[in-house]
Amino acid sequence: MGLSFYPVFFHKELLQLFQVYSHISEYVGNFRNFKPEKAYFCILSKINMIITYYGHSCFQVSTNGKTLLFDPFIRPNPKASHIDFENIKADYILVSHGHEDHTADLVDLARQTNATIISSYEIHAWLQKKGIIKTHPMNTGGHWMFDFGKVKCVHAVHSSSLPDGTYAGNAMGFLIETPDIHFYYAGDTALHSDMKLIGEFRTIDFAFLPIGNNFTMGIDNAVIASNFIKCEKIIGMHYDTFDMIKIDQEDARKRFDNAGKELLLMNIGETTEI
Ligand code: NI
Ligand code: MN
Repeated sequence: MGLSFYPVFFHKELLQLFQVYSHISEYVGNFRNFKPEKAYFCILSKINMIITYYGHSCFQVSTNGKTLLFDPFIRPNPKASHIDFENIKADYILVSHGHEDHTADLVDLARQTNATIISSYEIHAWLQKKGIIKTHPMNTGGHWMFDFGKVKCVHAVHSSSLPDGTYAGNAMGFLIETPDIHFYYAGDTALHSDMKLIGEFRTIDFAFLPIGNNFTMGIDNAVIASNFIKCEKIIGMHYDTFDMIKIDQEDARKRFDNAGKELLLMNIGETTEI
């Protein structure tokens, strides 16, 4: 998020900095001592996020010296064959649900990176049995403060089992809040009205939404989802990997554009800054 001094954006920025500051105040419990100059300091020191796309629903998000990796499915994805798998780094791996197209590389990457795995209780228990012990189990509705910020597990409408058939608990989405940026990683999900709650309580700077249809919501429902969460910047995921989730990228961009939103479709291996 860049800082803009254009007057037309000023009101929005003011609102934003108040939200950023009240968010930080929540951490330290001094909301009553709100001081605008402190809020200015907060927004002026906003730190950007570096996002790398590894294909399908797998993204690496780096901020504030920490690297998060989402839903690792890289080596079985022919479209991601150019990714330098051995050099992928992560401090945390967040797993939305157990399906193979989200967990295929989880165990090997957990070993390779020594990352802490954030997932449902059931995926945590499955990993422990495989000797992966650096795990943090969570469940829908709960949040936890990590050293990079807050993770809240939110509702996803989807199924969840691991590749060997083990029950994997609830499929979930993640709401990530750092003092600088809030974003939503929806995981695999249908459009559902609980997404309105996400937009109700927090400013969402950007969101990863599935757009491939068939297994998750498609483009039109993702546009509605972006309205529910009140987010203007969407990064598409879960499309084009398989025949059943092929999309027309140009048409997808147009549909978001018509709704006054930006749809970012990253190339696999591409890195961008938000
Ligand atoms: Ni799935
Ligand atoms: Mn999937």
